[in-house]
Amino acid sequence: MQLRINGRTREVSAEPHESLLTTLRERLALTGTKLACDRGECGACTVLHNGDAVYSCITLTRACEGDEITTIEGMATDGALHPLQQAFVTADAVQCGFCTPGQLLSAYALLARNATPDATAISEAMSGNLCRCGTYPKIVQAIQRAAEAMRAGDA
Ligand code: FES
Ligand code: FES
Repeated sequence: MQLRINGRTREVSAEPHESLLTTLRERLALTGTKLACDRGECGACTVLHNGDAVYSCITLTRACEGDEITTIEGMATDGALHPLQQAFVTADAVQCGFCTPGQLLSAYALLARNATPDATAISEAMSGNLCRCGTYPKIVQAIQRAAEAMRAGDA
C-alpha cells in the first residue's frame, strides 16, 4: 500500500492490525514518533493525519491509505526549525524530550485552527499530551511565542 508521509509517497506493506506507530518506526525508521503507553493515553505517539492530531498507536495503518501523514521529521523545512520547534527551545520547554515530538504536532494542529489561542485554549488542546517532566507551563509559553512569531510572519 501507499502512504503519504511528510509530503512523500512511501510504499509499505502493513499487517491488517498494524498500528501506524509500528509502521512509522519499524518499517520506515521514522523513530521521532515515540512509543510509550501504546494504548492511547499519553500522546507520545502523536502525528498529524490529514492535519488532525491523532495517536498513531491506536490508528491502523491500513486506514490511512492515500492520506497525508506528518511526523516530527517533516516539521522543519530545508533544515530550518519550524517556529514551534524554535519556541520550544527558546522557552526551555524540553527536558528529557521524550514527549516533545508529540507535543509539537499537537501544537501544530492547534495553531492551524486557532492562530490566537489563549492559555486556556492551549491547555485544553494539549491535554492529551502528557509530560512526565512537568514542562506544561513552559509548553504553554512556547506555543504562545510561536503563535506570535507566526502571526508576525516569521514562519
Ligand atoms: Fe500512543 Fe501513548 S503511545 S498514546
Ligand atoms: Fe520529559 Fe516531557 S520533557 S516527558
